[in-house]
Amino acid sequence: MSQPALVLENVVVAFGALKAVDDVSISVKGGERRAIIGPNGAGKTTLFNAITGVNPPTSGRIIFEGATVTTKPAHLRARMGMSRTFQITNLFPRLTVAENMQLALRGTGPGKFSLFGSARLSAEEEERVMSALAISRLGERNSVEVHELSYGEQRQLEMAMALVTRPKLLLLDEPAAGLSPSERIIVSDIIRALPRDLTMVLIEHDMDLVLRLVDYVTCLNNGQLLAEGTPESISANQRVQDVYLGKARDHA
Ligand SMILES: Nc1ncnc2c1ncn2[C@@H]1O[C@H](COP(=O)(O)OP(=O)(O)OP(=O)(O)O)[C@@H](O)[C@H]1O
Ligand SMILES: [Mg+2]
Repeated sequence: MSQPALVLENVVVAFGALKAVDDVSISVKGGERRAIIGPNGAGKTTLFNAITGVNPPTSGRIIFEGATVTTKPAHLRARMGMSRTFQITNLFPRLTVAENMQLALRGTGPGKFSLFGSARLSAEEEERVMSALAISRLGERNSVEVHELSYGEQRQLEMAMALVTRPKLLLLDEPAAGLSPSERIIVSDIIRALPRDLTMVLIEHDMDLVLRLVDYVTCLNNGQLLAEGTPESISANQRVQDVYLGKARDHA
């Protein structure tokens, strides 16, 4: 069997006395689609920040594609094939879709954030941009300034920006948050149509979406791993329902 794409061993992320992530061990297979669920404040985004190197663990170990990356800086992990979207949109509103894509593409390369100094995109880079925009259903919106996009299209652009580097691991932090029902359908169609060899970890509150999109679910509560299993077994799990689904109903 091939090695797992991502392994977390006893990961702790502490903020002072608070253990936002408390001794979490997870293993995600190559090509797997995994959801991380749990109530507000469970530690989901903090876990993503540990995986991507934005805020490395206080203790424990993170192994990506067989290499220990626990304390490696975020840009090196990105270069190794990790890509993520943020819970809060992270776009340049006065630049066009194409310009935002160029920044995302060049962000991991040597000419980091030099939009104006660097040469035009190569044919290969152009092809990557167009294919990531097509997957994200923004193929026709290339020359539009980002502030003119709908909120849903902005979330789609974030996904395109995360895909343009052709990552091995894609981490999506609530990509459907704040979207209308029809926009949510677009986002879930995009996720479903992602390349099958891409490993994906998705933070999402909407259990209907989770059920339709992932192979396996990890539920966190108070920074700790509460339960893991297939979407069906997790949605039927009494402990998960008690801590998470009840609260999800409250805040829906
Ligand atoms: N930089 C920080 N400094 C101090 N405490 C933090 C920091 N970031 C997160 N926390 C705390 O860590 C805990 C976990 O937060 P986190 O954002 O990871 O939760 P979450 O599961 O993503 O929640 P949500 O569903 O609301 O996005 C919370 O109690 C939060 O207040
Ligand atoms: Mg979060």
